[in-house]
Amino acid sequence: MRFLITGGAGFIGSHLAQRLVRRGYRVSVLDNLSTGRLGNLEPLVDARLVDFNWGSIQDRYTVEKLVGEADFVVHLAASLGVKLILEHPVESIETNVTGTQIVLEAAARNRTPVLIASTSEVYGKSNKVPFCEDDDLVLGSTRKSRWSYAASKILDECLALSYWEEKQLPTIVVRFFNTVGPRQNARYGMVLPTFVQQALAEVPITIHGDGKQSRCFCDVRDAVEAVTKLIDARAFGEIFNIGGTQEISIEDLAMLVRQRVGSRSQILYTPYDQAYGRGYEDMQRRVPSVEKLDGVTGFRPKIALQEIIDRTAAHLRSTMIEVV
Ligand SMILES: NC(=O)c1ccc[n+]([C@@H]2O[C@H](COP(=O)([O-])OP(=O)(O)OC[C@H]3O[C@@H](n4cnc5c(N)ncnc54)[C@H](O)[C@@H]3O)[C@@H](O)[C@H]2O)c1
Repeated sequence: MRFLITGGAGFIGSHLAQRLVRRGYRVSVLDNLSTGRLGNLEPLVDARLVDFNWGSIQDRYTVEKLVGEADFVVHLAASLGVKLILEHPVESIETNVTGTQIVLEAAARNRTPVLIASTSEVYGKSNKVPFCEDDDLVLGSTRKSRWSYAASKILDECLALSYWEEKQLPTIVVRFFNTVGPRQNARYGMVLPTFVQQALAEVPITIHGDGKQSRCFCDVRDAVEAVTKLIDARAFGEIFNIGGTQEISIEDLAMLVRQRVGSRSQILYTPYDQAYGRGYEDMQRRVPSVEKLDGVTGFRPKIALQEIIDRTAAHLRSTMIEVV
């Protein structure tokens, strides 16, 4: 069986490629290396276990060719990260919407099943705890660029589910919640790798807002395990949350990172306005229900946050250190 992973040189994609290769599958990757790195895949590419293709999901010809050679597509390529979305909203929307449309069109022509990556951001400002897959999605004004990421992913979800309903293309939608681990890029505003880099460099750990907002973090090994289990279960036409359920405030996270890394970094608070511009909206809590994932696959993410931080720190120490 041959998998095509779009965005496979990225954080989640490279871990998934590794997992699929270990299971004996053939893997092709399509990635434009905008946020991903060839280095993430190098040992697999060198060993000819992964076939790397540089290019964009917006290039119809390339997508058609690679989808035609695959038995299953995992579509992860996207523009993401709050900072990147705020800095390049047009490009981000186009990548996420047009790119996904092109991938799904090619998959439909070739009758190739697709799993597409969505995000917990789609729950938006909803204050429900925990979030279940069929809950209402509550977004802010379209004048606020930060919502364009969630909106683009909602459209991707609608498109994938419509391809299943209307054209019987087997599709699965997964909503990742704050996935973390080695190789995650801190340059685009991801909180955990940023805190770990700051702690390692002994510079201040910067919290946006009052730090009372909380999140649940999921080890990337658990996330890719969930993905492979959903593919095995052929859970088509469905949406699944994939996330950890251990909730922690961002302030407590900063302190835990400092303690695990053994750092003397100060903890500083930056108002949202200063970090992201005026009128920035954030969610207080974001907790996934993983009952549906568990019900279909018998699996729920379980790796503890302490271990996630230690591995991220070990990885960053070994690659020391880019931009803080
Ligand atoms: N990491 C998380 O916590 C998280 C949370 C929610 C959703 N997601 C989703 O999971 C997927 C993977 O995210 P990630 O964390 O691995 O991020 P990532 O930035 O490491 O991976 C995305 C990959 O897509 C590639 N890419 C971007 N635009 C492309 C294009 N036009 N053509 C081809 N390749 C392109 C990038 O180079 C990168 O390798 C994304 O769809 C993202 O929206 C991730």
